Amino acid sequence: MKDILEEISRRSRLKATEGTVASYIPELAKADPEAFGLAVTECDGSQYLSGNWDHPFTLQSISKIVTLALALEERGPERVFSSVGSSPTADPFNSIMRLEMDAPHRPNNPLINSGAIVVVSLLPEEGRERKVDAIMDLCRKLMANDSIDIDDRVYRSEKNTSDRNRSLAYFLRSVGSLNGDVEDILDVYFRQCSIKTCAKDLSIMGATFACDGLNPISGKQIISPSTARTVRAIMTTCGMYDGSGEFAVKVGIPAKSGVGGGILGTVPGRMGIGVVSPPLDEKGNSVAGLAAMKDISEKLRCRVL
Ligand code: DON
Repeated sequence: MKDILEEISRRSRLKATEGTVASYIPELAKADPEAFGLAVTECDGSQYLSGNWDHPFTLQSISKIVTLALALEERGPERVFSSVGSSPTADPFNSIMRLEMDAPHRPNNPLINSGAIVVVSLLPEEGRERKVDAIMDLCRKLMANDSIDIDDRVYRSEKNTSDRNRSLAYFLRSVGSLNGDVEDILDVYFRQCSIKTCAKDLSIMGATFACDGLNPISGKQIISPSTARTVRAIMTTCGMYDGSGEFAVKVGIPAKSGVGGGILGTVPGRMGIGVVSPPLDEKGNSVAGLAAMKDISEKLRCRVL
């Protein structure tokens, strides 16, 4: 296994030159384009680490699966899916167009920005600090890592350049699809996107979803099996944005990407995969990360779709 992953790392990292590091949030533009880390955590707790597996980066959109899992646990699937849909979209992750066109102006799914903002608003905790605490607590448990924290510089940078997310949120409120204090909700969203992580943490979180909510490192049941299954299903259809269909065909593993360059994969009953390489394709997915996921799916014969 170690040798196979080393070979996959060596080949995939060469692909990074075909992508571009995200620059619409100034702090993200500082990411090291040459960093490449890969980690696999199996459901029996075995771990394989390769390259810059401890290289720090921010979760960005991968955080959306943490908040979704929390909302599903706390509010239940009926409440969550009455406020956001569960269908893929062919539009970019921060698109406004479809929201305005399609009554009842409900976000297509919880993993595009508008949907993730609505999911934050559904958390029952009072006020921004309590919501953030609940997200951080679940994130630490999913990753079996108590030292997970927020990258303050990325958070501030994100908040200072948030016109698009702000317009999505205020539009949603104007059509009655978002309730609550918009600035509080956005603040929680910016902080969840700025959670600092590494490929190893991602692989443990992926393994927890793969093992129906049981974290194989801590040995604790973190979320219910039904929440784990629902999040895996949404990852399958929507996790790679408008690249989800192509990813399902080529790779066949439920996964979630973020503009920090991370991709989390979850192979039910077998393993979690974490990969990071900051240069992205035009859809916001890590180019070398995509190559690694495809290789892993083939070499480890772990496609599930
Ligand atoms: O809302 C944003 O723009 C980012 N903080 C998160 C978006 C993201 O990661 C999209 N991913 N591929």
